Amino acid sequence: MDTFAFHNPTKLIFGKDQIEQLPSQLPEGTKKVLVVYGGGSIKKNGVYDQVMDQLKKAEVEVLELSGIEPNPKLTTVEKGVDIANQENVDFLLAVGGGSVIDATKTIAAGAKYDGAPWDLVTRQATPEDALTFGTVLTLAATGSEMNAGAVITNWETNEKYGWGAAPLTNPAFSILDPAYTATVPEDQTVYGVVDMMTHLFEQYFHNPTPSPVQDEMIEGVLRSVMETAPKLLQDLESLEHRETILYAGTLALNGMMQMGYRGDWASHNIEHAVSAVYDIPHAGGLAILFPNWMKHNLEVNVSRFARLGEKVFGVETEGKSEREVAEEGIQELRKFWTSLGAPQTLADYDIGDDKFDVIVDRAMKRGPFGNFNKLHEEDVQEILEMSK
Ligand code: NZQ
Ligand code: ZN
Repeated sequence: MDTFAFHNPTKLIFGKDQIEQLPSQLPEGTKKVLVVYGGGSIKKNGVYDQVMDQLKKAEVEVLELSGIEPNPKLTTVEKGVDIANQENVDFLLAVGGGSVIDATKTIAAGAKYDGAPWDLVTRQATPEDALTFGTVLTLAATGSEMNAGAVITNWETNEKYGWGAAPLTNPAFSILDPAYTATVPEDQTVYGVVDMMTHLFEQYFHNPTPSPVQDEMIEGVLRSVMETAPKLLQDLESLEHRETILYAGTLALNGMMQMGYRGDWASHNIEHAVSAVYDIPHAGGLAILFPNWMKHNLEVNVSRFARLGEKVFGVETEGKSEREVAEEGIQELRKFWTSLGAPQTLADYDIGDDKFDVIVDRAMKRGPFGNFNKLHEEDVQEILEMSK
């Protein structure tokens, strides 16, 4: 295993009616809370009312920032920073999916930083302080509820980057009630499944010094997600299946799965570059790109791909070469995602190759990337060509 230090300061509060814990989780002396949310799903499904009831019990003053967009915009983060500072807010509460949480993380750090929040996102500056914040998660996908990462888009420059500064941008607590995710529509449910599976793959694809415990954990979570996702899509309101997927999404990216691994993360970098140019759902992009990243990198470590094929996709190994098992595994992944309704090609989003040069440029902004295999300009170009 690689050396590692693991510290996750987020308190995870999981299960039915756990919103009742909200007042007791607010830091001692909290007076003014800025509630951050998206385009209104929480008003339709009753989550907003439940959160407000609890904040009333906590006897805090409440301000609101709504309208955080999916793929949150820098300009909205800046608005949040202004409100937090002008109103002397002392706690932020994100109520929503990954986009709302990521915006909140950046507002939290931006409010305590003298310069422009974009400096933090581009890592030109490192925050020294941040407002404390918590989250109430409504969509299982990103793992943002229990990690320090945030992904923000600057539409003026067509740049979308992930950043984070643990422990400042770790939520103090996250409340996860499966019932709050029961209204997530079918397409977003599929995207969530694809996103969490890709997080597990990104970590699994490292060049292993033996790490059997990590391998088995990742394979086990992947199998549970694959068993549950089709059932959930048949019955979107099943709390049993929502619970499984919600828990898996958090585990997939809260650092536990990456202990002793380095993680690759190249596909995420390419996807963020695609989303920076075309405003498509993050995991829609991943569903298209990831199997092509796999094909492109097969030769780097055929046995790693073969193990995944056998252990997760149940590929029969008898009489087959390692390479055949590996290739079949990749086909099975594509088949599985397609069966859920995920997109397969960039053309599914009407994206042609006319802006591939911009996408490659954005992906290469921080130099060659990927820990399993370093990708250069020509690799990104090739993966995009395969994804047309
Ligand atoms: O805005 P509202 O009205 O709330 O609607 C949202 C939004 O339209 C809706 N939704 C959320 N909960 C719902 C619901 N609709 C009905 N019922 C509910 N309970 O779903 C839509 C998508 O929400 P969003 O937050 O954008 O989705 P997701 O959680 O997938 O987040 C995507 C963003 O996270 C970033 C992505 O790049 C993207 O910007 N990521 C963040 C990561 C992190 N911080 O660790 C890692 C990921 O790899 C990812 O890059
Ligand atoms: Zn992701």
